Amino acid sequence: MLVNLKTILSGLDKKAVGSFNIYSYETIHGVCRAVEKTGKPAIISFGASYLNNMSLGMVKSIVDEAVKGLPADTALHLDHCKDTDIIKAALEAGFTSVMYDGSALPFDENVKNSRAVANMAHARGVSVEAELGSIALGQYSNESDIDHGEAYTNPANAAEFANVTGVDALAVSIGTVHGMYKAEPNIRIDILREISKMVSIPLVLHGGSGTPEEKIKECIENGIKKINVNTEISQYTVKRLADIIAGDRNIHLSKLTLMQSELVSEVVEKYITLFAER
Ligand code: G3H
Ligand code: ZN
Repeated sequence: MLVNLKTILSGLDKKAVGSFNIYSYETIHGVCRAVEKTGKPAIISFGASYLNNMSLGMVKSIVDEAVKGLPADTALHLDHCKDTDIIKAALEAGFTSVMYDGSALPFDENVKNSRAVANMAHARGVSVEAELGSIALGQYSNESDIDHGEAYTNPANAAEFANVTGVDALAVSIGTVHGMYKAEPNIRIDILREISKMVSIPLVLHGGSGTPEEKIKECIENGIKKINVNTEISQYTVKRLADIIAGDRNIHLSKLTLMQSELVSEVVEKYITLFAER
């Protein structure tokens, strides 16, 4: 069943739900296959940057069909959106969760816009994620061409932000990057611990790809309830497909699309399982 973000993240005790980026039938199918195989929930996440790949309505129609009969809940989330008109369109299309990304704005402006989005979305029963702090850009990410650099989330600001905006989840910056790491990651569990003490809404970790498993476990132990993964799914799937094509350049495209979904589901399954184990 499609539920909102607040519902899918509620009642999690030292566990997290994975949020996996989709931009095609194959990626949607891959995430749903992993939910089917694990019997555990997942968030189907469509980034506003993928509007050239699919329309919001097309995503919603395919997701509605793909989640039928799944053994666990899913949420349909609009990822990283700075444009409130697109957020409005996602609400109208039937998304159950939206992220307003005002992380590049001054604090007060981010607060004002995040609060307005929360009011608009809550009126329809839709959840809102916002972001405070800035995540650096790693390699091979499709998130953005602009690297805003790393700015760790300030715990006191995070508490104020959560209180005054009324958002349902908060993305924090603690050293992960969008894309694959260029160097050894330095994940600041100490900062996360401070944020967790002061903020009661679920915390979100962006830039899950390539993060060492023991760091992911520590993040979950210290309050992270949603983890976003994108680049690693693409990296793994493209490399495996390249090998398959190199072995048979006459392979039929219909077979490749099925393989694509299966490869996506392998990475998603790994993460769903990791995030849900204690
Ligand atoms: O919002 C999406 C993510 O934060 C994905 O980051 O590509 O590093 O896994 P990633
Ligand atoms: Zn992100």
